[in-house]
Amino acid sequence: MQGGPLHLNVRGCLGITSIVPRKKFFVVGVVVRTGGVKRSDLFNLDGRLAVITGSSQGIGFAIAEGLAEAGARVVLNGRDASRLSAAAHALGAQALPADNGLGAFDVTDPTAVEAGIARIEAEVGPIDILVNNAGIQRRQPLDEFSVETWREVMRTNLDSVFFVGQAVARRMIPRGQGKIINIASLQSEAARPTIAPYTASKGAVKMLTRGMCADWAQHGLQINAIGPGYFETELNSKLRDDPVFDAWLRKRTPSGRWGRVEELKGAAVFLASAASSFVNGQVIYVDGGVLAVL
Ligand SMILES: NC(=O)c1ccc[n+]([C@@H]2O[C@H](COP(=O)([O-])OP(=O)(O)OC[C@H]3O[C@@H](n4cnc5c(N)ncnc54)[C@H](OP(=O)(O)O)[C@@H]3O)[C@@H](O)[C@H]2O)c1
Repeated sequence: MQGGPLHLNVRGCLGITSIVPRKKFFVVGVVVRTGGVKRSDLFNLDGRLAVITGSSQGIGFAIAEGLAEAGARVVLNGRDASRLSAAAHALGAQALPADNGLGAFDVTDPTAVEAGIARIEAEVGPIDILVNNAGIQRRQPLDEFSVETWREVMRTNLDSVFFVGQAVARRMIPRGQGKIINIASLQSEAARPTIAPYTASKGAVKMLTRGMCADWAQHGLQINAIGPGYFETELNSKLRDDPVFDAWLRKRTPSGRWGRVEELKGAAVFLASAASSFVNGQVIYVDGGVLAVL
């Protein structure tokens, strides 16, 4: 690591900043000295720009908050512009204002995706981090699922990862760097009754993550996934309100409880930062241990 000038860092500690060309940000971290103790700054996202799809609420909003807390500027995404604007205001200064419709597009529409990503890059700057989070759940016995609902789940949970991932990667590749984090699921590995299309879509997100790694890692990109277990969000409101399911889940989960959305921030910051610079094509399951035990 190269030496650099003494400075006061964002948290007010006297430190030494390494002079690192921007292009190598994700490979080389920064070391800060506080009172003789060497402290790694590998998780610092100062100066990074992140786009998080489906982030007006729930897991996407929590991940956006986590990335912002680590220093990134964040652009939120969703279809409802007014909810998006309220969420951006709730996040504060690190969130780019959504009042002018920035980030408001439907991730299932490839034309809207391309226009939305082009606008973010033109008006804000190069995207360093993409989180493909937007997703929906539809519950029904598989033999009763309509073709249209099957397609709705697939285009929201899977097609969108391809559309947004490709639009962003086409810009990251010439820059030789970029972090893409896809939100998979516990259901990328394990099925449950009445959610077969969701399970199929999330299994495919896991494999698309590996496919993106196979094609794009050579260009300096890192593409990984987070597989959440059961978290308390609107998507799961029916399950949370069902005492039988609630009791079953607490018994089935080694940690004995539902996840809290803020517990996904750590994995997201890790995968978005220099700390994970040689991690590629992986899924990190954040599920309280469900997949580890029968
Ligand atoms: N909750 C869990 O326990 C859990 C577990 C495993 C995986 N996951 C995954 O985590 C992700 C987020 O889940 P969540 O529970 O936070 O869901 P949620 O609370 O229902 O939030 C979904 C978000 O996605 C947005 N969205 C939906 N369709 C969209 C579209 N076509 N274009 C743009 N934005 C869209 C919604 O905003 P608008 O409606 O305004 O567009 C909203 O902001 C999903 O991929 C889900 O499968 C969740």
